[in-house]
Amino acid sequence: MKVKEAIFQWYQENGRHDLPWRQTSDAYKIYLSEIMLQQTQVKTVLERFYFPFLERFPTLQSVAEAPLDDVLKMWEGLGYYTRAKNLHHTAMTCKGILPSSSEELGGLKGIGKSTAHAICAFAYHEPLPILDANVKRVLCRYFAISVKNEKVLWEKAWKLLHVSHPYEHNQAMMDIGARVCTPKNPQCDACPLSLTCKGKSAPQHYPKPLQKVKVPTKKRFALVCEREGKLGLIQRKEKLLHGLWGFVQSDEMTEGVMLGQVCHTYSHFKLVLDVIQTPLHVSVDGWFNSEEIAHLALSTVDKKIKECIEKATIRSTPIKEAIEEG
Ligand code: ADE
Repeated sequence: MKVKEAIFQWYQENGRHDLPWRQTSDAYKIYLSEIMLQQTQVKTVLERFYFPFLERFPTLQSVAEAPLDDVLKMWEGLGYYTRAKNLHHTAMTCKGILPSSSEELGGLKGIGKSTAHAICAFAYHEPLPILDANVKRVLCRYFAISVKNEKVLWEKAWKLLHVSHPYEHNQAMMDIGARVCTPKNPQCDACPLSLTCKGKSAPQHYPKPLQKVKVPTKKRFALVCEREGKLGLIQRKEKLLHGLWGFVQSDEMTEGVMLGQVCHTYSHFKLVLDVIQTPLHVSVDGWFNSEEIAHLALSTVDKKIKECIEKATIRSTPIKEAIEEG
């Protein structure tokens, strides 16, 4: 049997057919799943984000009509918020109706070539290959490629594509990458590509492992300021968390009471924040009670700060009252 047929058959027998984005041909729902899955595991998307988002935004039109803050609120905790901003931007640009050609899709903000191909292959069964991180690993191993090169990998992806079954082929490649041809301990015995896999004898060499760079730790201060029972927050302007609300941060040690410490690991650095309740004047964008804060989109680190404040003030300080009673 040819490898393409083996992949197809493997998918029929072993694919994750019950994933909700595989039970629909609605291009918007497929697009949403692809964006959510870009930097996030299936389990997280499935258990916490995909269904609530679709409940609030059942169509791309509903995304286009909503304020960005509402979209960010539904993305809260999923991270990489640029994805949500691009989704909102794209929904407005195409007035709630996604184009159906992969070229046009690929021209939209936040939709790269692989995502455009995924939408077309999954919604319209177009014969286009995909090339996400898992698929790249499968291709590197199968063709014994040590150094990843986009052009070469696209050529290989086209070469391997089963043009009569692009939907099943691409879903299979994703499943094989996620569950069989894993970074560590690949299950070659269970792999439909194994018969002709060139990297099978030394999968750990394909692709060649990159030198691990240790992520730096940044030490900063989160400033908690309170006025008339409300907490002062800013709306973030920096790229990573743009549009989200949060506590003021400073590189400088600031006068006040230390409430605790919060850590958060981003992709490129680890952030350690001393949470300081300060009596000093700090410039903020708004003052909010607990109920109002619950309606804002906060990043994960700011949620941790809020929890830290609640814990630290459990024994009767005004901030506790501010958070609990509003
Ligand atoms: N990751 C990205 N797209 C996916 C899909 N369609 N199924 C499972 N995991 C994925």
